[in-house]
Amino acid sequence: MKKRLGIVTVGGDCSGLNSAIRAAAIRADRLGYELLGIRRGFFGLFPESFDYVRLTPEDCNEEFLTSSGSVLFSDTKSFTTCMEHGRSQKEILQFVCDGYKKLSLDGLIFIGGDGSLTILEELLNYEPNLLNVVAIPKTIDNDVNMTDCAIGFSTAVEVVTEAISNIRSTAKSHQRTMVIEVMGRDAGFIALYAGVASGADIILVPEFKYKMGKVIDMVRRSYDSGRKYCIIVVAEAVESAALKHRDANSCDEAAKYSAIKYKGIGQFIADHLKNEGFESRAVTLGHVQRGGTTAILDRIIGTSFGAEAVNSLVAGERGIMLCYRGGKIEKVSISDLMHGINKRLDESDMCVKIAVNLGVYIGELRNS
Ligand code: F6P
Repeated sequence: MKKRLGIVTVGGDCSGLNSAIRAAAIRADRLGYELLGIRRGFFGLFPESFDYVRLTPEDCNEEFLTSSGSVLFSDTKSFTTCMEHGRSQKEILQFVCDGYKKLSLDGLIFIGGDGSLTILEELLNYEPNLLNVVAIPKTIDNDVNMTDCAIGFSTAVEVVTEAISNIRSTAKSHQRTMVIEVMGRDAGFIALYAGVASGADIILVPEFKYKMGKVIDMVRRSYDSGRKYCIIVVAEAVESAALKHRDANSCDEAAKYSAIKYKGIGQFIADHLKNEGFESRAVTLGHVQRGGTTAILDRIIGTSFGAEAVNSLVAGERGIMLCYRGGKIEKVSISDLMHGINKRLDESDMCVKIAVNLGVYIGELRNS
């Protein structure tokens, strides 16, 4: 019987996942392995809801390189749903281990972001000798530590950059301030990179506190200079004294597996500017940021990650995450990664420096 690997996508989808799936299918076939695509994230691995498909190179054609989403579907709620149905965390971890054994997997390629990597760590601690796992980082938010880039980030930045450019023409025609709220959870990478790439005037990110007075001054200067419009990009997790996303009292067990929902900082800033006399509109880009034709970098790193994950499992490596650093694919141990899974912007980031050099307001920095 052929040796068998599995591949699963967990957490919010993004562009580039299918590139990784295609590459894994081709590489596994070339090395004489069978590849099972586990569908619907963890649900597909639970024995009571098994859902998987055999993936061959013929099934995974070149269209996989450009298509967004995951052909295996994804899952952001298997753990919370099971807990809501009275299952304990231990039982759910056991489901995954049982599924892995029943499918006779020799290894599993796990494609996930920071939330799902946290679950993976719990799994590896729960059953350290059973699961041979190689992880691939994916998230439009780009907040996974130890990798310059996760799959999906580049495409999201392209989609957002193009959207901002489209919004600029109407901002100019109507002499308005447009406030564009973008995704990213607690990290400001999408906002900053797309804001810089589209020439935004003000970019607000959760990592750097902003002063509303400074935002108003910048907008006023733009109008006084005769330009008479302004482009503001704001990351969804930016808060103000009047708008807090987190409920400090929420601490039930399932809550750690479910995402915070953000509450409209874009509209909040636009309303504030309206009160100051500037005609303003808020645009929330929303889930459009998770689609789009896959950007070239996502195709390349997705393909590279998919093939290297198979190589690593076949070579007997386990408990590692592949990462992309300085133009190379490297490996880090998942336990090292967990010492600080979340990456955030800091003042040394290239785009922070660009913003400072060009006079774009990105909040209060220590060193500027
Ligand atoms: O983590 C990816 C992401 O797109 C975030 O940027 C966003 O806050 C969240 O997922 C949206 O989640 P959902 O699709 O569950 O609303």
